[in-house]
Amino acid sequence: MKVSGRVERMKESATLAVAARAAAMRKDGIDVVSFGTGEPDFDTPANIKDAAARALAAGMTKYVATPGTPEAREAIASKLRRENGIDCTAAHVAITAGAKHALYLALQALVDPGDEVVLPTPAWVSYRPLIELAGGRCVEVPGAMEHGFKVTPAQLEAAIGPRTVAVILNSPSNPSGIAYSEAEMRALCEVIARHPQVTVVSDEIYEKLTYPELSPGLRHFSPGSIPALAGRTVTLNGMSKAFAMTGWRIGYVCAPADGGRFLQELVKLQAQMTNNIPSFFMPAIVEALSDRSAPQVESMRRAFAGRARVVAELLAGIPRMSTVAPTGAFYAFPSIAACSGLRTPAGRSITDGHSYAEALLAEAHVAVVPGGDFGECAADHVRITFACDESQLREGLARIARFTAALA
Ligand SMILES: Cc1ncc(COP(=O)(O)O)c(C=O)c1O
Repeated sequence: MKVSGRVERMKESATLAVAARAAAMRKDGIDVVSFGTGEPDFDTPANIKDAAARALAAGMTKYVATPGTPEAREAIASKLRRENGIDCTAAHVAITAGAKHALYLALQALVDPGDEVVLPTPAWVSYRPLIELAGGRCVEVPGAMEHGFKVTPAQLEAAIGPRTVAVILNSPSNPSGIAYSEAEMRALCEVIARHPQVTVVSDEIYEKLTYPELSPGLRHFSPGSIPALAGRTVTLNGMSKAFAMTGWRIGYVCAPADGGRFLQELVKLQAQMTNNIPSFFMPAIVEALSDRSAPQVESMRRAFAGRARVVAELLAGIPRMSTVAPTGAFYAFPSIAACSGLRTPAGRSITDGHSYAEALLAEAHVAVVPGGDFGECAADHVRITFACDESQLREGLARIARFTAALA
């Protein structure tokens, strides 16, 4: 049967592919340590589950407005005003099927064929395919590992041209686990402010997973709070990561531009695609964003911060690997460039992150994601997700250390 060129050209998600292979090996009885998917190992807090269960039992099973109920949209707008300093109302917010769908809708609403979207890399695997699906050209700006995987204002300035319609910013970052400081983010935003045709797409899905205990003074900063950019920032966020709600598929997009006109256009597309996300999730969103959930979110954050410290310490002790210590999200992104040209005891040759990850899974039964899909600059890296308990973390990293040491 025919497949459209548009879809055929699209890459499959590298992270989901690794998870599928690890799951298949587990099914065959192999003890695999999975550092693949970016998914918290915690369960959703009980008060959030109860809110959805109550709404379901009460018969909240019908369509609601495409972008969500007024109560849920207001809960999000109020959180964005209070915590992020973004001047917005419920009318500027749409609730989507995950932040991934929010990104899809935002790019479809923003990008025309031939437009350019600037993407600091290493960056999450879905940005490039979704930019290209919208007909855009992805302009990568590599954040050097020596510079903490961060792009500089000068690099950003050089990448913005007359065809640039958007810059995607993602802090804390998947896959590098780094977070820009407020000063660094403001410096990038100053560059963007000088180009009035450019929209900021700020993916803040990991905002609550920021670790000042590992980087004193670090706190999340939202570009949409800068007055010069407020009218041209699209903020993406969701419940998946900080609230341990990946399977629920709840994301949101906030765009105060032109009194909400951009948002209305985006919702037009959403209405033709998915319409509202499950209606009985709406009270769960209100519950998640209430003070009642804050202690549990904080306790998960602290656990991730502890694991970030463990990963950084253990990776630092592995010869032939170099990395930047994570200060946000739940990823580390070591370089395995020093392993290139070596062979495993079983005879596999290591040429890049892809061959390293393949051999590691086959011989040491540890699943990591090859770096190449996170950016052209990242082929010699692998991504390690530390969203698992500490004993798994220690076991997986011990296997990685043995595997890497045995290369010759
Ligand atoms: C940077 C980033 N943005 C967005 C998402 C999408 O999250 P979700 O669609 O689960 O809300 C992810 C998930 O891995 C991510 O890492």
